[in-house]
Amino acid sequence: MTPARPFFAFAALSLLVTGFALAPRLLSQGSAPLSPAASPAPEPTASPRLLPLPAAEPTPAPERALLMGTLPRLTHKLALSADAGNAPLAAFYLHESLEQLRAIQKESPEYENQPIAVLIDRLALPAYADLQKSLDYPHTPTPPASRDVLLRGLDRVIASCNECHAATQHAVIQITRGTEVNPFNQSFRPLPPPAP
Ligand code: HEC
Repeated sequence: MTPARPFFAFAALSLLVTGFALAPRLLSQGSAPLSPAASPAPEPTASPRLLPLPAAEPTPAPERALLMGTLPRLTHKLALSADAGNAPLAAFYLHESLEQLRAIQKESPEYENQPIAVLIDRLALPAYADLQKSLDYPHTPTPPASRDVLLRGLDRVIASCNECHAATQHAVIQITRGTEVNPFNQSFRPLPPPAP
């Protein structure tokens, strides 16, 4: 409302910023005669805590993301879709899985001396081929693939997950269909056919 307000806010901010930029120099001059073991100099008037500069503070290194990323979750949803005989939804998760696999190839072509990108080309991608043929995302063929066809394709995919775990010294990670329960707040049932 008052036109003077933004100006004062700006002026105050620039003073604060300038003061803080100069502070380390003034401080280092002042503390030069002190021995390193001496107690820290008293805080300067412009306390660093006043400055909203969280980006400048040292942040702890983020935890390294798991190699697989969202692939396990997508595979579980693919399984629940196949088990429900929901071809269009299976097609969607197949497509998402392939994208995730390509992202893994790009981001971690090697992992703990394992040729991840090559193994995905050789083991994983061919395993998705059958399922992909029966689904042809996003134009699911009519009639849509049956539950049996979907589950057969799914089992091939899951076998390839476990083959790669064995090949990369992670045989202990055993993937299953996991369709006994649906842990998601999502229905995997096919939509009712559109009214004529
Ligand atoms: C290219 C080889 C390869 C393929 C293909 C692969 N994995 Fe993995 N997976 C690994 C390796 C290596 C690890 C251990 C490294 C890590 O995650 O830190 C792992 C770890 C995992 C883990 C444990 C980490 C977590 O996220 O809980 C799960 C679950 C997993 N994989 C699921 C799958 C599923 C599901 C598939 C198939 C759709 C699959 N993987 C395909 C190599 C592979």
